Amino acid sequence: MTREPAALDLHDFEPERERFRADVIQGLRRPRKELPCKYFYDERGSKLFERICGLEEYYPTRTEIAILESHAGEMAARIGPRPLLVEYGSGSSTKTRLLLDHLEEPIAYVPVDISREHLLESASLISDRYPELEVLPVCADFTGHFEVPEPGAPYERRVGYFPGSTLGNFEAAAAREFLAGIAEAGGPGSGLLLGADLDKDPEVLEAAYDDADGVTAEFNLNLLRRINEELDADFRLDRFRHRAVYDAKQTRVEMHLVSVEAQTVRIGDETVEFERDESIHTESSHKYTLEGLAALAGDAGFAVEGVWTDPARLFSVQLLAAV
Ligand code: AVI
Repeated sequence: MTREPAALDLHDFEPERERFRADVIQGLRRPRKELPCKYFYDERGSKLFERICGLEEYYPTRTEIAILESHAGEMAARIGPRPLLVEYGSGSSTKTRLLLDHLEEPIAYVPVDISREHLLESASLISDRYPELEVLPVCADFTGHFEVPEPGAPYERRVGYFPGSTLGNFEAAAAREFLAGIAEAGGPGSGLLLGADLDKDPEVLEAAYDDADGVTAEFNLNLLRRINEELDADFRLDRFRHRAVYDAKQTRVEMHLVSVEAQTVRIGDETVEFERDESIHTESSHKYTLEGLAALAGDAGFAVEGVWTDPARLFSVQLLAAV
C-alpha cells in the first residue's frame, strides 16, 4: 500500500547551481585539484551511499547501529526529558529512530539535509511513526547558515545529533568551527550526540573505502557524472579511476579520482587540463582517538558527558555538553 506523504512545512535553504559551479571550478583550478565531498549526495549519490552502508567492508554503519541498539536507553537518560533534537545531515533518519524510541517525551525533531526529496520522504516517515512529535524539516547545507525553527511547545534541552562520523569529512579547523557553532547556537547546557569513527588498522580502513564490488568507486565517480549532468561538462568516467589511501600522519583515509591519461575536460565554457596520474582529492575521512575527540570537543566549547563504543572499539558515540 502506498501512502500519501504527510504535509510538512519545509524550511528551504537549498544551495543553488551557481554555487555548485563556482565550487567545482575553484576546486579544479587549485594546484592540487579537489572537489567538496558534500556534492557526492545527489539522488544517485545518496542511493550509492546507502549501498556503501550495507557493505561487508564498510563497518561504521553497522557498528554505530549496534552501539545505539545496546546503549540508546542510557544515551536518552543522559539527554534528559523533552528535548528538541536537531539532526545535521539526516539522510534516511534510520539511526534517529533508534534514539527517538528511547527519548523521554521528545518535543520536536528538526532534520537538516541538502537533498530535498530524501529529506521530505524521511521526515514524513518519522512524522507518521511518531505522531506526537513535531517534525520541522530544514532543507539546507548543514555546514552553512540556517535557522532552526522554533517548535510550538517548550523544550528542556536542545540536542544536536550528528551520527555517521560525518565530522570526519571536515578538515580539523572546520570540524572545530562546526562544533563550536553548534555549542554557541545551542547555548550552555545544550548537547550534541556525535558518532565518530576511531583510528584502526590501515588495511581495514582502506578496504572500507575501496570495496571489492566497486560501490565506493562508483560513488566517487558519480561526482563527475553529476558535474556532467548539472554543469554541462564532458568528463569521461572511464578516464578516471578511484583511489583510497590511508594517511597515517593525518589519521585519515583520502579518496581521489586519478586521471588515467593527460586530458582536457570542458565544464560549461571553461576547460581544465589534467596530467596523466594527476588526482582530484574528493574526500578525507578522519579517524579519531577518544583522547583526540575530547580535545577537539574541548576546543569547540564542549565537555564530554558520555562515551559509548563497541567491544572492538571500532566506532564511538559521544554525548557532548556545551559549557
Ligand atoms: C558520510 N561519510 C561519513 C562517509 C565516510 O565514511 O567518510 C562517506 C563515505 N565515503 C566513502 N565511503 C563512505
